[in-house]
Amino acid sequence: MSKFPQHFLWGGAIAANQVEGAWQEDGKGISTSDLQPHGIFGERVERQPGDFNIKDIAIDFYHRYPEDIRLFAEMGFTVLRISIAWTRIYPQGDEEQPCEAGLAFYDRVFDEMAKYNIAPMVTISHYEMPWGLVKNYGGWGNRNTIAFFERYARTLFERYRHKVKYWLTFNEINMSLHAPFTGVGLPEESSSQAVYQAIHHQLVASARVVKACHQIVPDGKIGNMLLGGLLYPLSCRPEDMLETLQKNREWLFFGDVQARGAYPSWASRFFKQRGVELEISEQDKIDLRETVDYISFSYYMSGCATADKEQAQARGNILNMVPNPHLPATEWGWQIDPLGLRLLLNELYDRYQKPLFIVENGLGARDKIEADGSINDDYRIAYLNDHLVQVREAIEDGVEIWGYTSWGPIDLVSASKAELSKRYGFIYVDRDDQGKGTLARKRKKSFWWYQDVIKSHGATLK
Ligand code: BG6
Repeated sequence: MSKFPQHFLWGGAIAANQVEGAWQEDGKGISTSDLQPHGIFGERVERQPGDFNIKDIAIDFYHRYPEDIRLFAEMGFTVLRISIAWTRIYPQGDEEQPCEAGLAFYDRVFDEMAKYNIAPMVTISHYEMPWGLVKNYGGWGNRNTIAFFERYARTLFERYRHKVKYWLTFNEINMSLHAPFTGVGLPEESSSQAVYQAIHHQLVASARVVKACHQIVPDGKIGNMLLGGLLYPLSCRPEDMLETLQKNREWLFFGDVQARGAYPSWASRFFKQRGVELEISEQDKIDLRETVDYISFSYYMSGCATADKEQAQARGNILNMVPNPHLPATEWGWQIDPLGLRLLLNELYDRYQKPLFIVENGLGARDKIEADGSINDDYRIAYLNDHLVQVREAIEDGVEIWGYTSWGPIDLVSASKAELSKRYGFIYVDRDDQGKGTLARKRKKSFWWYQDVIKSHGATLK
């Protein structure tokens, strides 16, 4: 196996609401995630004192980050993707001034990374926003949220411009189509009209923030972030082909706007068919022209599309993907497809001609602690090995890829169902779904495996 380029960045990715805990410390406001104890697809609850939400403590990264970053450094990380909790900086979302204690926390985190030469990559909004903005303004349905987000992002750029050079606007921006409350702060049952108008506001906000980053952090790079929901046709029937083209466009639409600076030509027919009429100002069109420097995305699985509506409805998963009969799946039904990653990398590079960054990829699985205390997660090693081999192939294909951050280098709370038993880490965390455990950290077999991969620049991959 040949090596990855010397400058390729290796690391892991985490998100504030899935690791930090400390949900009410140092002035933090209530976020939408704090109201989702059952995950992004679960019911939203009004919190009562004493209610259990595993994310309230999560894995306590807020207090244990020095230990965790030291472990990441031990694996050889050169990059760590984190997100900033908007509610630590602007607790309600509409304050004039930011919260100093929140800003100081991330200063400490970045300083800790700097000790080990780990470059931070920061997602400005990862699956959460201030509840205050949802309750008082209607979330992203309200145009004013663009300005609140821009103020928040500018605060981050001004504060951390010497410490952070890699930025991302919204995590999996296309996820709003499947989880509107998480993505845009709208009720789950919202109409397509409402969701797409909110998405439009978010796209404008993303472009405005890209521009602000270019002004304030001129030596930085800012990207978008897509859920890489690659679909194959279930059969080679032309109707399935057409359906696949259209379904892939539904998520690529976001990248098209963010990377090309305008709505794609097919969008007007697409919206008309759905009865959607967007309110787009002339200034919005100008704002959208500011495009991202690189495309980042998550990749866990692929799926299929079919023109057979009955079959699609009966078998489609939460992302409306129909299972591929040729692929195995995890216990959570996520189909494992390493070659799909190579296909996706080629597809995105052909489409956008911009550098790519794989900012999430990993296997959620239950781990078992052996009698001698070891955790032999060979299944995770196999999954990651096979995907990284395909990344290497894509580089050979000529795709420009800046780096790879595996999802959940340390066990964390899962986003979809708020479980801790669905583990992704190279590092085990002693905590279960009921919140029992010491929170102690322990290296799994994959820890040493990833350390070797990074040290050898991928030469140890099989
Ligand atoms: C991505 C999200 O959708 O997938 C992460 O950006 C999430 O926040 C990850 O954790 C894995 O999903 P899950 O539901 O297994 O945590």
